[in-house]
Amino acid sequence: MKIVMPGGTGQVGGILDRALSAAGHEVVVLTRRPAREREVGWDGATPGSWAEVIDGADVVVNLAGRSVSCRYTPTNLQAMMDSRVLSTRVVGEAIAASARPPRVWLQMSTATIYAHRFDAANDEAAGVIGGGEAGVPGYWAYSVAIAKAWEREQERAETPSTRKVALRSAMVMSPDRGGVFDVLLRLARLGLGGAVAGGAQYVSWIHDRDFVRAVEFLASRDDLAGPVNLAAPSPLPHRAFMRELRGAWGVPVGLPATRWMAELGALALRSDTELLLKSRRVVPGRLLEAGFTFDHGRWPEAAADLVRRVRGGPGHVALGR
Ligand SMILES: NC(=O)c1ccc[n+]([C@@H]2O[C@H](COP(=O)([O-])OP(=O)(O)OC[C@H]3O[C@@H](n4cnc5c(N)ncnc54)[C@H](OP(=O)(O)O)[C@@H]3O)[C@@H](O)[C@H]2O)c1
Repeated sequence: MKIVMPGGTGQVGGILDRALSAAGHEVVVLTRRPAREREVGWDGATPGSWAEVIDGADVVVNLAGRSVSCRYTPTNLQAMMDSRVLSTRVVGEAIAASARPPRVWLQMSTATIYAHRFDAANDEAAGVIGGGEAGVPGYWAYSVAIAKAWEREQERAETPSTRKVALRSAMVMSPDRGGVFDVLLRLARLGLGGAVAGGAQYVSWIHDRDFVRAVEFLASRDDLAGPVNLAAPSPLPHRAFMRELRGAWGVPVGLPATRWMAELGALALRSDTELLLKSRRVVPGRLLEAGFTFDHGRWPEAAADLVRRVRGGPGHVALGR
């Protein structure tokens, strides 16, 4: 198949590009800084000749968006919003204008769209969309607003010959340097991998190989459209998540951190505590219903596999160019 990946130069793009190319597919990446073969330039906001690569492609997987690992200043939040909404809009326009439109458009969204909650898991049917929770920082609602606007942009695109799926993905755990697993593992190895702010908040995650398999599954299943959760079926509280990670590497202790210590840490890392403190309890209702099975569905085993790969097994590669 010919697969076009706008924004395919980042963490998730790297994972998909490696796996899909190895499986024999032709992968073309849209990037603002084309540097390699199979990369085509675009600006993520306006129509252009880049749209020619979409015409005749089989699958589009749009991953473009300003990184969310940053301080949530008004400027950064606006850039997070605009880069997602505008890139989705022009991808939709390119598909709509194609003489031979792709069969399917997989549009990245996020598990962050669901409410911060502890009492029950969010699936697509009964899950609670966030934004109205009491007792959480007001700006958390903005991340939900971004996710909603992102999905809305895909929904409103008029692409009658192209099936549209919104990938409500949890954090994709891979051994790549610079990825989220790498960051958490480094903290654990430094002895800092304890519970943060009590650790009761849930962590939803998906192993990189299951992420790729789910993308392939959704590309091939003609009966699935709309929002689909990409998350392992067993989210777990942050406290247990970090304990299992420490166990997988063999670190005996992890210093717990209070909320204000997390604030300082996030400031030092130029990141935001929402990524650590929001309880993301998300399960893959539609994938399971459709018969998808996870190879790495439980965190202790998934963490052990990732640690094995970090320790020098095949698959540990540096991110970026
Ligand atoms: N990583 C995860 O675990 C995860 C989980 C859920 C959802 N997501 C979402 O999935 C998408 C991909 O994630 P990722 O981790 O691969 O992100 P990433 O590493 O930050 O890569 C995203 C790519 O988007 C492009 N981009 C950045 N700003 C842009 C802008 N203003 N206009 C157009 N393109 C822009 C960049 O490509 P160029 O610089 O080459 O143009 C970048 O490589 C993101 O939207 C992210 O929010 C990620």
